[in-house]
Amino acid sequence: MKASNNPTRDVDKGRRRGRFALLAFLGMMFLIVALPLTGYLMVGETAAQAQQGAVNPLSELWRGARQANEGYTAVTAPQANILITDSGQNWRQVRNGPLATYGAWLMILALVALAALFLLRGRVDIDEGPSGMTVERWTRSDRILHWYTAVLFILLAITGLSLLYGRAVLMPVMGSEAFASYAQAAIYVHNYLGLFFAIGLVLMVLKWLRVNIPKGHDLSWFLSGGGMLKGKHPHAGFVNAGEKLLFWTLAVAGLAILITGVILLFPQLGQSREVMQVSLVVHAAASILVITFIFGHIYLATVAMKGSMAGMVGGRVDVNWARQHHDLWAKELEEKGVRPEPAPARPEKEAPEEPRPAAS
Ligand code: HEM
Repeated sequence: MKASNNPTRDVDKGRRRGRFALLAFLGMMFLIVALPLTGYLMVGETAAQAQQGAVNPLSELWRGARQANEGYTAVTAPQANILITDSGQNWRQVRNGPLATYGAWLMILALVALAALFLLRGRVDIDEGPSGMTVERWTRSDRILHWYTAVLFILLAITGLSLLYGRAVLMPVMGSEAFASYAQAAIYVHNYLGLFFAIGLVLMVLKWLRVNIPKGHDLSWFLSGGGMLKGKHPHAGFVNAGEKLLFWTLAVAGLAILITGVILLFPQLGQSREVMQVSLVVHAAASILVITFIFGHIYLATVAMKGSMAGMVGGRVDVNWARQHHDLWAKELEEKGVRPEPAPARPEKEAPEEPRPAAS
């Protein structure tokens, strides 16, 4: 992208875009997570107290079921004749207690930390300004794979968090019938899209594995905070150490999410209830960890790091951006003799029409 002839206007435009991007990012994150989770932390306890006080006309029946009494069923799955097991009670307490509560805090704290980072560091501009010359960073197939996986991930995160926190957060707001319909739809969306996401994640890990192999300079990248806190930029190859951390978290936690997802999705495989219960806790905990990382990733790509979105949208990045953030990769391109190309010209905005003299 070429700089215009008026640097002050460019700076103002950049600031306006930065503010808009920050507001859009915070608004999106707030709607997706912070609002329902804050509600959960406040409403959860009150709802539990209200439930304790309510009289259930079927209490005798449920008391029997809770004592793990065996009954009769034509279903032949393991333990199908026991409605409520001890391990099920423990699992419910872990799911609704530490898992949901610590998970909510982790995500909220991550958003607060990102807001603090923005206040401290602001938007990272291209120090030398855009050169107007670009090099290819992400091929078309990289970009299709990235956005395919990213969109599916966001839909899975919204439906997954709705299933984990919805009963406590959405049901009081939507009413039980509307919530039941929404939750049913969310389960279908989550279950079907999960399989498509798995394909994207596996391809992504395989395709980008080589560039994410840790190198010696990655340690100094971490020690200098990725250059976010101090002015000087640490060395980085095609991807920096922070991106490698995201990649390996996705690869390891993603694998755990996929395996436990299959266990949960296909109960007819014959696994016991205990295996399903542990799988659900692992599935949700690993997903919350990845969601927290993705908050940071989206923040850096949209709000904090000027110039990186161009690469994942159009495939090419400015040469000065490459030298600043991925100096070792930029040097490698120069050594290979890769020639930068001018950035595609942006269509100029039409000048507003001159006011016409009023007809006499
Ligand atoms: C709105 C959401 C998202 C935006 C705006 C976004 C943006 C970007 C951008 C701009 C890059 C290129 C960074 C560079 O050139 O160095 C990138 C890379 C990447 N993104 Fe995203 N992304 C989003 C969501 C996701 C999601 C949900 C995932 C995972 C499920 C993901 C995984 C990755 C990975 C693995 C890389 C490459 C980093 C590496 O190889 O280590 N992104 N993203």
